[in-house]
Amino acid sequence: MQIFPRELNLLPLVLGVASTLASIAVIGVVWYYFSPANLQVGYEPHQPIPYSHRLHVGQLGLDCRYCHSQIERSHEAMIPPTQTCMGCHDIVRKDSPALAPLRASWATNDPVPWVRVHKLPGHVYFDHSAHLAAGVGCVTCHGRIDRMDVVHVDQPISMEWCLDCHRNPAPNLRPPSEITNMTWQPDKTWVATADSVNPPTNCSGCHR
Ligand code: HEC
Ligand code: HEC
Ligand code: HEC
Ligand code: HEC
Ligand code: HEC
Repeated sequence: MQIFPRELNLLPLVLGVASTLASIAVIGVVWYYFSPANLQVGYEPHQPIPYSHRLHVGQLGLDCRYCHSQIERSHEAMIPPTQTCMGCHDIVRKDSPALAPLRASWATNDPVPWVRVHKLPGHVYFDHSAHLAAGVGCVTCHGRIDRMDVVHVDQPISMEWCLDCHRNPAPNLRPPSEITNMTWQPDKTWVATADSVNPPTNCSGCHR
């Protein structure tokens, strides 16, 4: 003898599936909104001036360090000051409407309000200098910047990503003279070894 209609036998199963799906959705939403956009592949904020790495690096052939001049020394790679641009744009395309915010910055001394693309959370310690000295190239972490009109995040910047390389750095090392070269490929004379480097894999190495 049945008290409840037969269809209700499925109810516990339906409820179970529904609550599992609901908790997966909640985790997904929290994950999405709490993981900063600056760490996600493809994040490409709008910049105040249509500055193009494709043009300045890919076509004009400027070295990264012409503008990011402190990258091998300082903690911050530095976005170049207006003066670096004015070295050329005082003469080149000096009336271009695209450069109006640059001229305004030059006149007022206020920096151009460039929007930060990559940004690690405050609890993570990262310094370019040790990486560059060890021979990790810009392209390994930032992709083909020389082909980007607008810079975007190229690699999934996560703890796993850092650790993957730290556990096995050798394939990502190159001669230090080639760190800004976007097209360097190992040839027969290059032997990748990680003998002289010691990337941290312990928590306090990156969370200081
Ligand atoms: C002529 C100057 C200039 C040169 C040369 C240059 N950059 Fe930049 N770079 C900039 C400016 C200005 C910005 C800020 C605006 C933007 O993000 O596009 C920037 C931004 C960046 C960013 C994003 C920074 C952030 O906010 O996270 C990366 C990464 C970067 N450059 C890498 C490179 C690499 C790699 C090279 C060499 C292959 C290079 N740049 C050469 C001027 C330059
Ligand atoms: C070594 C010289 C040099 C430096 C340094 C330089 N530029 Fe340029 N820039 C050029 C040249 C050359 C062009 C292309 C001019 C043309 O197409 O006629 C150009 C073009 C541009 C354009 C496109 C202008 C237009 O009217 O379409 C923008 C925007 C620009 N640069 C921004 C910048 C910014 C911002 C900086 C500093 C981070 C900078 N440039 C540094 C040489 C330079
Ligand atoms: C090992 C990976 C790695 C390499 C190699 C690397 N970068 Fe970065 N870069 C990052 C990370 C991660 C950030 C975000 C740092 C932060 O938020 O503190 C970043 C941030 C930047 C920024 C933003 C501004 C700043 O001061 O941090 C610029 C500009 C930049 N990189 C340029 C370069 C250039 C140019 C090279 C090569 C000479 C290079 N990077 C090599 C990982 C790398
Ligand atoms: C593609 C390889 C690669 C990636 C990606 C990478 N690293 Fe490293 N890292 C290295 C190497 C190689 C060294 C060793 C330098 C040495 O021993 O001279 C190093 C050293 C370090 C050090 C110790 C040196 C110092 O500056 O005090 C820290 C901290 C560090 N990395 C943090 C990070 C963080 C955080 C990330 C991710 C956001 C990251 N790294 C991504 C290759 C990498
Ligand atoms: C090679 C560098 C590196 C090492 C070593 C490392 N972390 Fe991280 N950790 C990171 C980076 C980068 C992030 C930020 C990534 C993000 O927010 O997605 C992070 C984020 C975290 C977070 C915050 C998680 C979140 O979602 O915001 C915790 C907690 C954490 N790490 C704990 C640890 C512990 C515990 C260890 C040792 C077992 C450790 N980390 C070792 C680089 C590292």
